[in-house]
Amino acid sequence: MRIEILADEAAVAVRAADLVCDALRAKPDALLALPTGNTPVLAYAELARRVAASEADFARASIYAIDEFADATRTTPGTNSVFYREHVRLGQRVLHCPNPSAQDPDEHIRAFADAIRRAGGIDLCVLGIGTNGHIAFNEPGSARDSRARVVALTHASREAHTATFGSLAAVPSRGMTLGVADLLEARSIVVLATGARKASIARRAIEGAQTAEVPASWLQSHADVVWVLDAAAAAELSATTQ
Ligand code: PGA
Repeated sequence: MRIEILADEAAVAVRAADLVCDALRAKPDALLALPTGNTPVLAYAELARRVAASEADFARASIYAIDEFADATRTTPGTNSVFYREHVRLGQRVLHCPNPSAQDPDEHIRAFADAIRRAGGIDLCVLGIGTNGHIAFNEPGSARDSRARVVALTHASREAHTATFGSLAAVPSRGMTLGVADLLEARSIVVLATGARKASIARRAIEGAQTAEVPASWLQSHADVVWVLDAAAAAELSATTQ
């Protein structure tokens, strides 16, 4: 596991964009799995700037979501489908996102994970981390060998989406997610964490025991993981890690 600590979220965004562009240079038709959330928004803006300036070319890349809400539609504000349309404007061939209105979400997300495998698997997976340690929608309690499935969202995760859905009541109570094992099959993984509210969970994920209570801690067992943190998110890491 490599730990990179940068001054602020702007620097994290540039570094995240650099790592995505490095993966693309190595493999122009890379399969990228990309996250939603507040954390990656600046990185997506930086990547869109690079595409507009012809500094990056996603034309042959495939982009896949890592999770989506269930019991909504592709146009429901707050869904990942809407997020990707708004923020991931990279001129990529296609962006695959699970359908929030799938009749059988469990079967749908399993087919989605199968499609990723058939397409050759994830070359680079970028992740954020929830304040409760979730990665994608793998909430606390998610086993290392968990696969793509429907999950009950925790109150903390639903609350985090209140603003984009308009109210807490409007946030679906179920999500579809790639499992921890699906994410760990990515050839390389980049985890982004910014801000003081991530400091405690970043320490537990990076330095604590590998446990289902902190699903992000399973990333310790992957051979090629880079954590990119700003100083605020890294504030509780021990001196040896820093
Ligand atoms: P955030 O979400 O980037 O909005 O903090 C991270 C996550 O839940 O994965």
